[in-house]
Amino acid sequence: MEPEVIPAILAKTREELLHRVARVEGLVSEIQIDVMDGEFVPNKTVGIEDLLQLPVLKQRGARYEFHWMVKDPQRWIERITGPHMHLVHVETIGREAMGEAGGSLDKIVQAVKQSGGRLGFAINPETPVENLLPYAKKAERVLVMTVRPGFSGQSYIYDMEHKVRKLRELFPKLDIEVDGGVNNETAGHAYKNGANILAAASAIFSSQDIKGAIALLKKQALTGCSHKPH
Ligand code: DX5
Repeated sequence: MEPEVIPAILAKTREELLHRVARVEGLVSEIQIDVMDGEFVPNKTVGIEDLLQLPVLKQRGARYEFHWMVKDPQRWIERITGPHMHLVHVETIGREAMGEAGGSLDKIVQAVKQSGGRLGFAINPETPVENLLPYAKKAERVLVMTVRPGFSGQSYIYDMEHKVRKLRELFPKLDIEVDGGVNNETAGHAYKNGANILAAASAIFSSQDIKGAIALLKKQALTGCSHKPH
């Protein structure tokens, strides 16, 4: 599978959100929007009213990938329309949901369907990969978090690669994404272990040459280092 690089946008204001989208629009076919409610993770990003101001992506086939780091994803998804990817954390579904919130899988599936989008599932570092397997069968994509969600600029957790290998072994054709600490050094490891989609924020937005940074990450995925540094 060809590696795909997705710029991840974690924005606290509408201006920042729209500015970052404008910087990558046209360069990629997917843009990840990180959404945090301050409850599922200890950080808060823009809210739903800001998300509703996202521009329609002009490039044919382009879409947003919403990474819902919120305790009640279904309520957010219901407000979005379009052929976007919705990544819902398994930790927020069913028995594992926090308190009263969270959603039943059926309601989430329904909300995504009505929005015209696609559904994928994300998993936090401390959650065993086994918890994701029942959902992976129904997923159009899975996301293995390689940092604890909440903030950009953290170090990639190499230990998460066993999850990627397990998923790749069981689902040879599934889109498997990693997110967190992806840079020119770790991209090759992630890809080698079976991840075909790499989401990155700092490695892309800290560069003056966004297009070059995306191309380099892709190249590093294909040719990057073969062993793990200690
Ligand atoms: C982590 C977010 C990531 C994060 C990635 O909470 O889900 O998308 O912004 O940032 P980098 O690439 O800087 O680790």
